[in-house]
Amino acid sequence: MIEKETPTAYPIHPLLSGRWSPRAFDEKPVKEEEIRTILEAGRWAPSSNNLQPWRIIYGVKGSETYDRIMGCLVEFNQSWVKNAPVLMLGCYKKTNPKGQENFHALHDLGLFMANASLQAHDMGIGTHQMAGINFEKAKKEFGFPEEYHVATAVAMGYYGGDPEGQLSKELHAQELKKRERNPQSEFVFNGDFKK
Ligand SMILES: Cc1cc2nc3c(=O)[nH]c(=O)nc-3n(C[C@H](O)[C@H](O)[C@H](O)COP(=O)(O)O)c2cc1C
Repeated sequence: MIEKETPTAYPIHPLLSGRWSPRAFDEKPVKEEEIRTILEAGRWAPSSNNLQPWRIIYGVKGSETYDRIMGCLVEFNQSWVKNAPVLMLGCYKKTNPKGQENFHALHDLGLFMANASLQAHDMGIGTHQMAGINFEKAKKEFGFPEEYHVATAVAMGYYGGDPEGQLSKELHAQELKKRERNPQSEFVFNGDFKK
């Protein structure tokens, strides 16, 4: 199993430094109970006014829902996602109870996914978020009303897949790459914003 060494500038919790986004997954199925545990972690994420705008569609490999989610992904993602035992769509309600735009809904879906991905990682399960989906198709496919948006898809499964057997040459190389981030000096300002 690939364990990625993360070059953190300051010591952080191993759950955060150890998490990474795999494209090859172990074939071992993820049990319903395990999926629900991961979603439960998401459920307890904070959200603006506790509106909990997230909505989740999930399907396990071999089911019709899984194939319907797969059909909403762009071709590039379909090429590797076929390795994943579970697929999800991350969706949110765009409006608050007064019918006004909830500007924080996408932020809150992100918090849900952060909680869920860390819970999954703690269970030996990797998650890989995807923006490469056909949003409008997914919204129609799963019957969402106008005031909802399908924002992301997620592939999920146990770490420990076979990158050489499951992935193209290029994606195999990416699977082994070191994790990278911009230094804090580029995005943290103790004072005015700087370009
Ligand atoms: C919102 C979002 C959308 C992403 N979209 C895709 C995608 O469509 N396809 C893909 O292969 N990876 C996608 N990624 C994965 C990122 O490329 C990955 O998280 C990033 O390179 C950092 O790698 P790490 O998570 O292993 O640290 C996405 C990640 C996020 C959070």
